[in-house]
Amino acid sequence: MADHIISHEPATGAELWRGRIGDVGEAVERARAAAPAWAREPHTRRIELVRRFANQVRKQAEPFAELIARETGKPLWEARTEVDAVIAKVEISVKAYSERTGAKKLDSALQGHAGLRHKPHGVMAVLGPYNFPAHLPNGHIVPALIAGNAVVFKPSEKTPAVGHFLVQCFHAARIPADVIQCVTGGPREGKALVEHPGIDGVLFTGSARAGIAINRRLADNPGKIVALEMGGNNPLVVADTPLVDDAAALIVQSAFTTAGQRCTAARRLIVVDAMYDRLIPALTTLTKRLIVGEPFADPQPFMGPVIDNATADLLTESHEVLVSRGGKPIVPIIRLQPDRPFLSPALLDTTDLAERPDIELFGPLLQVIRVADLEQAITVANDTRYGLSAALIGGSPEEYDRFWAEIRAGIINWNRPTTGASSAAPFGGIGLSGNHRPAAYYAADYCAYPVASNAVEQPRSTLGIGLSDAEVAPPPGWRKTVRDT
Ligand code: NAD
Ligand code: SIN
Repeated sequence: MADHIISHEPATGAELWRGRIGDVGEAVERARAAAPAWAREPHTRRIELVRRFANQVRKQAEPFAELIARETGKPLWEARTEVDAVIAKVEISVKAYSERTGAKKLDSALQGHAGLRHKPHGVMAVLGPYNFPAHLPNGHIVPALIAGNAVVFKPSEKTPAVGHFLVQCFHAARIPADVIQCVTGGPREGKALVEHPGIDGVLFTGSARAGIAINRRLADNPGKIVALEMGGNNPLVVADTPLVDDAAALIVQSAFTTAGQRCTAARRLIVVDAMYDRLIPALTTLTKRLIVGEPFADPQPFMGPVIDNATADLLTESHEVLVSRGGKPIVPIIRLQPDRPFLSPALLDTTDLAERPDIELFGPLLQVIRVADLEQAITVANDTRYGLSAALIGGSPEEYDRFWAEIRAGIINWNRPTTGASSAAPFGGIGLSGNHRPAAYYAADYCAYPVASNAVEQPRSTLGIGLSDAEVAPPPGWRKTVRDT
């Protein structure tokens, strides 16, 4: 069995990083030992330290962005926005903590003190995906630390270098090394972490497949908090609009940013009949103009490669399967280099498929479905087990109201992309997209539990009702009954 994880740059195939697989048991033990002191630190001190972390990231912003670009293949311009999101997360989480999980005075009788406060769970496991290897795990780690938890973080086996860089920034901010640790490993170490009895909660971002496996594994442990942020099969509906070029740009941003490797990426473009012939030529032209290239290329590409060759193979094979079932390529998917995972963005009309597989194809492949009207569009959009993001382009305010009311998803936008979710809002989905523990602004909720207290300084009490003046006589014969039994 391999004792190392090696990551390669998707764009070049060059080895980027290698590290020994971590010892999950040891990391959890160290975290358990460190957690009580961290929880006892005044909340203001923990905030001061995470702000220092933000400053560390600011200082290292450019090398951090370069590392993200190398390890994920995303263009440098986009990697820089990921670093910005890591920094911004700190102030958002400070605000969210006090607003959602801070302390509150309640009315109390007898001049006592009644209140609501929150306590950390203890040790949290954070499992990260590869597509946002810094921003997404950071979105669990920062709120968990502010709330007073220790964290054991296992980054994706595809992006361990970014995971370690992130954790070094916490350590450089003088957050104790055992309070936030990075464990190198793959799904095997992920499973070991989830199952470890010393873990009080699992904060997971990744595929529905892995999320369901984690949920199953913890079925007998209702005491562990589990937050699952999973994938989507996200619909983007186009209703009537004269702004065809703008619609095409929104579609491209929704489907092809990050080479389609966003959980919120549009997977199904549902177009009302009246728009199809006007929209598709404009969308085709724009899609064919997108530059696919290496992360540091000049001029910068719109999108880079997908994460690895296996993923590129899966996507091209899925494209072929859909074509064999009746899908009509509008812009076919092309493997741009035989040995590297650069894929051209693809549009595939799957209107005539008897059955469209309800799976997440995590890459630059957008299925196009032609429908009669908005009513049918909503029915098709909801025909999924997932429910992460959805958007409507065009239509009237009344049609958007209807869309909003009838679509089942955690993010519902109008004339905005399905992607680019705000950290200042809750971020989560329904169905296979999550377990009703949204992240981002609501991450504070799963990082601490509420404790209601009622306290009076002296134990003074009287019974105001149900007392007789003298001792109540036992019913006749009760002693005899007791002796007889
Ligand atoms: P993945 O599920 O393969 O892996 C995510 C993490 O879980 C990795 O660290 C992996 O090692 C670990 N893991 C895998 N199987 C495990 C198991 N059985 N037990 C414990 N840990 C396990 O996901 P990925 O391929 O890295 O990321 C892409 C997926 O993430 C897509 O499905 C995407 O939609 C989803 N995603 C969701 C969100 C969200 O917030 N909803 C955000 C980004 C990505
Ligand atoms: C993601 O988390 O994968 C994407 C977030 C977004 O762009 O909405």
